Amino acid sequence: MAGERSARVLQVSDGGLTPGAPADPCVMVIFGATGDLASTELLPSLFELYCKRLLPEPFAVVGFARREWSSEHFRQVARQAIEEECAWEPEAWNDFARRLSYVQGDATGPPEEGYADLKAGVEAAAADFGIPDNVFFHLAMPPSTFGAIAQRLAESGLAASEDGWRRLVIEKPFGVDLASALELDRQLRLSFREDQIYRIDHFLGKETVQNMLVFRFANPAFEPIWNRNYIDHVQITVAEQIGIGTRAAFYEKTGVVRDMVQNHLLQLLCMAAIEPPVNFDGSSLRDETVKILEAVNCKPVDVEREAVRGQYGPGDAGSGPALGYREEEGVDPGSTTPTFTAIRLGLDNWRWAGVPFYLRTGKRLARKLTEVAIQFKPTPHVMFARAESDTAPNVLAFQLQPEEGIVQRFIAKQPGPDLTLSDVTMDFRYADAFGVERPPRAYAWLLLDVMQGDQTLFARADWINEAWRTVDPIVERWENEPPGDFPNYPAGSWGPAAAEDLMRRDGRAWRNG
Ligand code: BG6
Repeated sequence: MAGERSARVLQVSDGGLTPGAPADPCVMVIFGATGDLASTELLPSLFELYCKRLLPEPFAVVGFARREWSSEHFRQVARQAIEEECAWEPEAWNDFARRLSYVQGDATGPPEEGYADLKAGVEAAAADFGIPDNVFFHLAMPPSTFGAIAQRLAESGLAASEDGWRRLVIEKPFGVDLASALELDRQLRLSFREDQIYRIDHFLGKETVQNMLVFRFANPAFEPIWNRNYIDHVQITVAEQIGIGTRAAFYEKTGVVRDMVQNHLLQLLCMAAIEPPVNFDGSSLRDETVKILEAVNCKPVDVEREAVRGQYGPGDAGSGPALGYREEEGVDPGSTTPTFTAIRLGLDNWRWAGVPFYLRTGKRLARKLTEVAIQFKPTPHVMFARAESDTAPNVLAFQLQPEEGIVQRFIAKQPGPDLTLSDVTMDFRYADAFGVERPPRAYAWLLLDVMQGDQTLFARADWINEAWRTVDPIVERWENEPPGDFPNYPAGSWGPAAAEDLMRRDGRAWRNG
């Protein structure tokens, strides 16, 4: 049955990472199989795993959605998506495609209709490939349907197994605030146990996010300086160049804080700030990340002083003129939905007291940049007082995008007779060190973890609740007090001036490098 296992052991071999624990043979059911997530992430990830021989054998996928597609049509659409998203391997495709089938049905309709067909479809796939009774359901569906789907899975007998396992994978947002998250959890828990529920945050599947833990806890050199005595502040930036694309309906209701901060940015904060867990496994790691958010929540954010909101107006998005948010298709022309935020958080614990964590994220910013930058304090005594120098404090930056790697900025003497100091960097890039041009997509690792029954990189219910506790006061305040100045930053800029002021007031500045 499902349960927490010790995490996979990753071994470096031939420049690649191979998972230590085998994945169980299983059937994956994709709810919302005709939607965007299935074609842009799920099917390409499965194909990548298949090509790397990491999928369990045997394995099959059953797509489930309302559209009247045949299995053949599902395969054609999958092929097109995979050709667009992955390195195409024609010889792998035929065998992979055999494993895909499709069942038409309404996920929130009466269980006796679509769900009876779904059950038959899962059983047929299992019988065709000789797969034991292990099934996971990936809900690539609007979160408002999760409770109903869990209930229907239980009523139709799909949620239980005598001799195999059942797992449920759900996509964010997990509720819209603390109250709704608690209610969602209550509904899910009527049919699934916590150890069967996998709440996906694709940031946790990114190599560099996991590497932050390896960097800190596998290299003894850094841990002694990882605290308030040496670290001045931490900056977490997730800047996107894209706008909201075709997601207006979702984004209008969600906004940047629920879409990005409640999950991705707070996960990054936890990875930077976490205390050493006893093991790299589901319980230890997740126990420690919850403690970090509890420390954040000791003092609620002072929204007036410590949180900035923004919305993009028309501008230049790098590749040409870009519409303002209010002109995007499907957006209310008077919309007050924020597309940018910058927030200053503090952690009330021994290690981090007094060290600010600045979080910033937005759409239509100057460029794509995702990084966690640890900025160290200046030297206590400047012995090179006579030296010419135009230098900045030491920074260690974990970079997730556009390229994954770690960069250390430090000060060095320029060659020559004078004592001239300048900033230099030491770079670690995945592509150079491991010959991996593009690390596997985050979803691939996370899907593999589901098949392995490893919940280490999935958010636990208590973490989700603490994350809502952090952001609820901000969202609530902003929803009750509409902004007077939207749009307040042009597309293609680094956000509103108030975000710069947030830092400047503390004598600091954002890294836009
Ligand atoms: C998603 C958000 O979770 O993350 C999107 O809903 C955002 O709005 C995306 O664009 C960013 O992910 P990544 O991996 O491109 O940084």
